[in-house]
Amino acid sequence: MEKQGEKKASEQSTGGRLLLFPMPLQGHINPMLQLANILHSKGFKITIIHTNINFPNKSNYPHFTFEPISESLVENEFEGSSAADIGNVLILIKLLNTTCVDPFRDCMVRLLSEEPVLCLITDAILVFTQAVADKIKVPRIVLRTGSLSSFHVFHAHPLLREKGYFSMEDYKSEAPVAEIPPLKVKDIPMVFTHEEESLHEIMEAMMKATKAASGLIWNSFEELEQSSLIDIRQDFPIPNFTIGPFHKYFQASSSSLFTQDRTSISWLDLQKPESVLYVSFGSILTIDKGEFLEMAWGLVNSMQKFLWVVRPGVIRGSEWVEPLPDGLLEAVRKRGHIVKWAPQQEVLAHPATACFWTHTGWNSTLESICEGVPMICSPCFGDQPVNARYVEGVWKVGVVLENGLERSEIESGIRRLMVDEEGKEMKRRMACLKEKVNLCLKQGGSSNQSLQNLVSYIMSL
Ligand code: UDX
Repeated sequence: MEKQGEKKASEQSTGGRLLLFPMPLQGHINPMLQLANILHSKGFKITIIHTNINFPNKSNYPHFTFEPISESLVENEFEGSSAADIGNVLILIKLLNTTCVDPFRDCMVRLLSEEPVLCLITDAILVFTQAVADKIKVPRIVLRTGSLSSFHVFHAHPLLREKGYFSMEDYKSEAPVAEIPPLKVKDIPMVFTHEEESLHEIMEAMMKATKAASGLIWNSFEELEQSSLIDIRQDFPIPNFTIGPFHKYFQASSSSLFTQDRTSISWLDLQKPESVLYVSFGSILTIDKGEFLEMAWGLVNSMQKFLWVVRPGVIRGSEWVEPLPDGLLEAVRKRGHIVKWAPQQEVLAHPATACFWTHTGWNSTLESICEGVPMICSPCFGDQPVNARYVEGVWKVGVVLENGLERSEIESGIRRLMVDEEGKEMKRRMACLKEKVNLCLKQGGSSNQSLQNLVSYIMSL
């Protein structure tokens, strides 16, 4: 593994400046900053354009230039918080796509007057950047931070809508989606009814702007999502680059918006090899008190050791873990260690970590695959149910808790993975996937080759 910032002399000559603009949420900032490091290592100069909310610590990236745009998001409810529920995320997406247009264009015009720019790379969800790029004649390449499989499902929304899936009374139906196996109806990325129109509008705009872009970069690798890649190439006949997993290229600086609790690692150091369940539901998802207590009971009853990330604000209406009654808190502390935020990639790579109970955000899913850690999946919204279905039904490296957060299903899910023979088989399949990750990044591997193609493509724009 190279150290961040190291460059081979032959790669120094690439040169030229790239402008990168992430969506200001943790799960989107991480892959964009990782991509920035990868492209920097290939000799490009990097400018990160960012909003006034949720930007990474600039001192971790002295090799990049940062350019704020003067949008007014700071004045609204998103200030200083990335912990929003899905309704808020849709509002944030809409706000970004309206309030950022003029400030972003002004910023671009100023930057272009100072220095030539090879291309702009922006998050797929920042739809407005395509029109601005077209107007000022800068090629835009899209970074899609989620999986190819979930993007393919988002792209199929109009078809699924036509077939009546969105008007089904029972949106939690276990019935299969014949058009996209192994999806079940309940996996289709839809949200609460009152947000449905917003979701359709955003998806449609994202697909249209992506098709108009000059290329599409994926934080995934060919061997993992081969059949989805074939579909995507048909749906999006622009150059596609599967160069992931991004975070495996370097021991890169952290783009974490929260402080990582290092006791996660010192506690793991004291545990037996492959004995700990790691629990984290990412940076956005929220649960209610009842669900939190069910989680606690399920964990305690499983009799396994666990490292549990309880992000402040994750329990609606509570500051932190205060809903745990004394007796249960003691039982939790006997077997587990609770932190507010963990160095997740290090935790997953730790020899004591056996399994990951996750909401299957794409970064978490990919990070788990890279370390060969089987998953218990509790997906909630957006791409998460699709990712979870692939974990269980396609890669067969985990189980989905089908009935929400319920203590007996949690307990049996944990036991299936951590105690039963079934879990050992999943671990073996995970070891094969991990090996594929190692191979795709090596010289001549699929991601390595795709990255070379991307570099040549950028130089040809
Ligand atoms: C969001 C969406 O919810 C997700 O569905 C989508 O795929 C990406 O955007 P988020 O919910 O935050 O992301 O989940 P995820 O994609 O898993 O990203 C979380 C990131 O935070 C990961 O890179 C993970 O390593 C990091 N993390 C999480 C920590 O560093 N520490 C923690 O304690 C928890």
